[in-house]
Amino acid sequence: KRIIVLASGNGSNFEAIVKKLRNKYKIKLISENKNAYVLQRAIKLDIDYELINYKLYKSREEYNQKLFEYLKREEPDLIVLAGYMKILPEYIVEHFENQIINIHPSLLPAFKGLNAIKQAFEYGVKYTGITIHYVNNELDGGKIITQEVVKIEREDTLETLEEKIHKLEHKLYPKVIDKILRLQEVAYEKSLN
Ligand code: GRF
Repeated sequence: KRIIVLASGNGSNFEAIVKKLRNKYKIKLISENKNAYVLQRAIKLDIDYELINYKLYKSREEYNQKLFEYLKREEPDLIVLAGYMKILPEYIVEHFENQIINIHPSLLPAFKGLNAIKQAFEYGVKYTGITIHYVNNELDGGKIITQEVVKIEREDTLETLEEKIHKLEHKLYPKVIDKILRLQEVAYEKSLN
């Protein structure tokens, strides 16, 4: 089975996914940001990657077309967004219906969008967490697969909270990806009987 990870930034989730799942699945990375640290991680981990440099395209649409072509060619079983900072166009989401997942660092539907950990911290909620969900055409709006709660303690700072959330992401995301792919397998086998 084949996983494509789309990531634009640091790539700590990408690294966690690779370390936990590289023995079971073929993993590839796509990034649109030539300066993203995730590319360095791919090189260090010896994972195939494709830079589709957003800045080299005349329009968002041209970039999206290129991305779409690449994704179709690769025929992934699952597309994993891990800090991907662009919005996928409708036709990509529709073509890969139920095959694209995202991780968001809050308990959706609270604190959608950017800087969710900071939004939650500044709002003063006592509990926040992470959400893994299918991607649809609404930002951070797709069907929820799973959530985990993180308690914000009195002594937490934004930094310690970020640390807790990222640690949990690195544990949970590979597990959920593995589970989805195993269930796909079971469904496929059943369909043959
Ligand atoms: C994570 O917090 C994830 O929830 C959000 O973007 C961040 C990516 O971090 N969607 P990294 O690039 O994996 O380190």
